[in-house]
Amino acid sequence: MMQRRLEPELMNGDAQVQAYAAADFSAGDQATLEAIQQLLFTTSPLPADPLLVDLGCGPGNITLRLAELFPRARIIGIDGAESMLALARGRAQQQQLEISFLCQTLQEVLEGPLLGQADLIVSNSLLHHLHQPDLLWTVSRALAAPGCRALHRDLRRPASDAELEQLRLKHLPSAPEVLQHDFAASLAAAFEPHEVTAELHRLGLNQLRVSAEDDRYLVVSGLVKS
Ligand SMILES: C[S@@+](CC[C@H](N)C(=O)[O-])C[C@H]1O[C@@H](n2cnc3c(N)ncnc32)[C@H](O)[C@@H]1O
Repeated sequence: MMQRRLEPELMNGDAQVQAYAAADFSAGDQATLEAIQQLLFTTSPLPADPLLVDLGCGPGNITLRLAELFPRARIIGIDGAESMLALARGRAQQQQLEISFLCQTLQEVLEGPLLGQADLIVSNSLLHHLHQPDLLWTVSRALAAPGCRALHRDLRRPASDAELEQLRLKHLPSAPEVLQHDFAASLAAAFEPHEVTAELHRLGLNQLRVSAEDDRYLVVSGLVKS
């Protein structure tokens, strides 16, 4: 089994932010949106004016789509990298979408005013950045209002460096070097599904389910708080 190789949590290098914002993640974004809709379809409807939180929102790929899908919701995107949020704010303004973007780390969210308020918590491609294996789950639990659901989708760690290299060649054969490097580093930093399951059980989050998707993703979805 390959050990996790951590990468920096925040993405605030100029080249990295520009390359990320310019890349086409539409297929993955669409899969995340569909998983969110599926989760809401199989559980009870959201309250009339729900609070939706997108953790590690980056340039707002998912946050903006949530605002289009749920025009009556209050939507908050949170990221610790101001350069990512500047892009997100610009995009939201351009599309005339009402979204609040907060520059906070997840560690800071735990001390903030949103605790116990969220009806839906999502993240896309965040988990592998986090050094502390229980941080996303602790934050999700702390933010959750009664009935809150969560959908977290991320890469999962391959079994070996050889498998990692195969995934890189298969999925990003001719992407810019910075993206190829980030993809490989992200795979190496990611969790395996059984590691996530163990954390969730340890924290008593037994209504969140972990599933492997495709050849490189994991999805955590379900009820955070009854
Ligand atoms: C790979 S990007 C994903 C962005 C976005 N969710 C998307 O779907 O495109 C991960 C984002 O998580 C942010 N991030 C990583 N660790 C964080 C932390 N501890 N607190 C807040 N944001 C964090 C990074 O700054 C980066 O913008």
